[in-house]
Amino acid sequence: MRITDTSDLWWKNAVIYCLDVETFADSDGDGHGDFQGLSQRVDYLADLGVTCLWLMPFYPSPGVDDGYDISDFYGIDPKAGTFGDFVEFVRTARDRGMRVIVDLVVNHTSDQHPWFQSARASKTSPYRDWYVWADEPPADGPQGITFPDKEVSLWEYDDKARQFYLHRFYKSQPDLNVANPKVRDEIAKIAGFWSALGLSGFRVDAVPFLIETMTGDADALPDPHQHLRDVRGFLSRRHGEAVLLGEVNLPHEQQREFFGDDGDELTMQFDFIGMQAMYLSLARQDASPLIRAIGERPSSPPDSQWGTFVRNHDELTLDKLTIAERQEVFAAFGPKPEMQLYDRGLRRRLPPMLGGDPAWIRMVYSLLFSLPGTPVLFYGEEIGMGENLDVPGRLAVRTPMQWTAEPGGGFTTADPSTLDRPFPKGRWSPKNVNVAGQRRDPESLHSFIRGLTRRYRECPELGWGTFASLPCETASVFAHRCDWEDRSVVAVHNLSSEPVSAQLRLDDCTKRQHLYDVLGTETTTVAADGSFTLELEGYGHRWLRYRSGGTDPV
Ligand code: NOJ
Repeated sequence: MRITDTSDLWWKNAVIYCLDVETFADSDGDGHGDFQGLSQRVDYLADLGVTCLWLMPFYPSPGVDDGYDISDFYGIDPKAGTFGDFVEFVRTARDRGMRVIVDLVVNHTSDQHPWFQSARASKTSPYRDWYVWADEPPADGPQGITFPDKEVSLWEYDDKARQFYLHRFYKSQPDLNVANPKVRDEIAKIAGFWSALGLSGFRVDAVPFLIETMTGDADALPDPHQHLRDVRGFLSRRHGEAVLLGEVNLPHEQQREFFGDDGDELTMQFDFIGMQAMYLSLARQDASPLIRAIGERPSSPPDSQWGTFVRNHDELTLDKLTIAERQEVFAAFGPKPEMQLYDRGLRRRLPPMLGGDPAWIRMVYSLLFSLPGTPVLFYGEEIGMGENLDVPGRLAVRTPMQWTAEPGGGFTTADPSTLDRPFPKGRWSPKNVNVAGQRRDPESLHSFIRGLTRRYRECPELGWGTFASLPCETASVFAHRCDWEDRSVVAVHNLSSEPVSAQLRLDDCTKRQHLYDVLGTETTTVAADGSFTLELEGYGHRWLRYRSGGTDPV
């Protein structure tokens, strides 16, 4: 028995899969996905190799921000089902070896939430101080508008309240005031409630905004990070395996603060910087931006982890690139204005951005699974779903899951023309891209990704190990190694469409060490000085594994 048991820190090498109950599987033909439908798909997800499901918000909501505007933190949207359906689903997922985490969206509420309705009605409401009010928008207040297409200010005047309130997102999403200890207690209560129903943690929405306080609040919450420490401590006491997977889109050095000096804040954070650098590297067919980003990424504290991803449910944000770099990515992957959003991102899925090129798409997912960290997939990535640009805004990438070639995509028996978010047409339609057509085809993207999830799980070096890039003269080659205990994985990716001959060296291999192919069958032998050459096709990729001492780690 080791003090740090690898299965206790289950998130270190989990395979996380994000889905929205609303768009995954509709069991009753009303055009809306539901928990019963999702439960019927649990075996599919387990077979894919997923070990943790992340559910996007399914709480009661007016739906202005696709459920991220919550009107009851302790409820379930009746269209998604009942608490009975929810618990059955969690139980089924756990039975098949999958944990479940859900979105914890507590930076703000919907303006329809009874707390806000009470708060705006009177200055003496017990909920007044649950929100952030001002007689005039303060000049030294928060800056930066998240939804510049719809909002012109972070402050909205409320006629009833006769004050302005702060809203980081849409005006119908007033920010909660975390400087108020009652709000912090309520947040803990919400997290405690859902974890008591069998969940294994939360994807925490908009963390930097959540802990942001106004200047006048300094006495109430002198160190906003204390709030994160408190939530982590509370959850760990209630439920030792619970994780907080935080959305913190900040430069890496600032992200490090959100893990906590002692690793006692967020358990995991998405690597937005690495993701953006990856797209720049893909656009340039030059590995340097990615090498720099991952190389400079601070290592996560021992009980913490980076979450890596290729796409998520939002626009593909490129906000941390320079304007010129962003334009390069736009030109390569989203040149038309309707593909772009908020001047900072692309409302597209990966396969259409890469022109549907199977080798290119596979190389990107091989990269995702071999980068140090925990990979997070967005539903439909495993079959190469595309977006529907006819659907407004970010919803373009949130169309229903494509299960079969039928008009309703196997998602619903409702008339597909009545769906709020119709399927993509043509090349990316359910007819051409669906689970049924790929699942039993060994050459499909689905089979490829299913293979990656298995190989990733068999190589703890990737989730647990230390990262180092391997120097290579060929600009398009991203070569790195991850070392853990006595084992190493070396992964080599050619970001160019042209074949390359990659000259590499492993300084710790001076005894004609064999490198065993993880994704294929070709063993490579290093020369006595540790050097070796890999011939890679355009967008070729290899994972090689060895154990010090020479045997195949298998
Ligand atoms: C981040 C979520 O990913 C996004 O979809 C949402 O609009 C905002 N937070 C507000 O909750």
